[in-house]
Amino acid sequence: MDETFFGDPEYYARWAKAYDAMVGSALYNRIFWGTNPRHYAQFAARAIGSRRGPLLEVAVGTAQATATLHVASSRETTLVDMSAPMLALAGRSIARAAGGTLPDRISLECRDMLAATGNKRYDTILGLGLLHLVPDVPAVVAALGQQLAPNGTMYLGSLVEASSWSNAYLGLLKNHGDIAAARTGAELFDQARAAELGPVRLTRRGAMAYLEIGG
Ligand SMILES: C[S@@+](CC[C@H](N)C(=O)[O-])C[C@H]1O[C@@H](n2cnc3c(N)ncnc32)[C@H](O)[C@@H]1O
Repeated sequence: MDETFFGDPEYYARWAKAYDAMVGSALYNRIFWGTNPRHYAQFAARAIGSRRGPLLEVAVGTAQATATLHVASSRETTLVDMSAPMLALAGRSIARAAGGTLPDRISLECRDMLAATGNKRYDTILGLGLLHLVPDVPAVVAALGQQLAPNGTMYLGSLVEASSWSNAYLGLLKNHGDIAAARTGAELFDQARAAELGPVRLTRRGAMAYLEIGG
């Protein structure tokens, strides 16, 4: 698979701080998506707490929901994002949460999440707020699966259709080219299953769907 940026790289480069504030805002998430940033952190905590071996968070962005969780964890952790400004903010947040320096067991990699480095395999792969940016879900889930250890589990989040209000906003983002698809939860479930990585479980809170794949 060629190197691919999901979403608008210019947006993340110019508006990293604004994105961070928006995704962490309880008001924004409640009004537009019927969600709360705490839900994102709860899902991430479930992923991070699920095993002890190496963990990969892909498309980590600014680590708004996960910075303190990664500090509290003792897992060897790799955080990947293709946007250097977003990843720099993630690094700063984690260092701040850790009291000033990035813990040695946490590494940041500015790269395409689908371009695996060497033969490294992870027991857990986490990706929040991601699959609505991805045009071909089975291909991306299968490619991420190549970095998953045998019996590992992937935890992936995606906006999906929910209330008429959030559907209208999702449609607007789709028409503007900001997201790849406005899927239903059922469509997302079927597309994740098509990657053939094992059992798929899907839950939804407001317009955010949470997939657990494999394990
Ligand atoms: C919607 S943001 C989600 C950020 C974070 N997970 C969150 O929930 O706040 C999508 C992120 O994916 C990153 N991204 C897009 N394509 C990528 C790729 N191929 N590999 C790694 N990161 C990518 C963007 O730079 C951006 O930070």
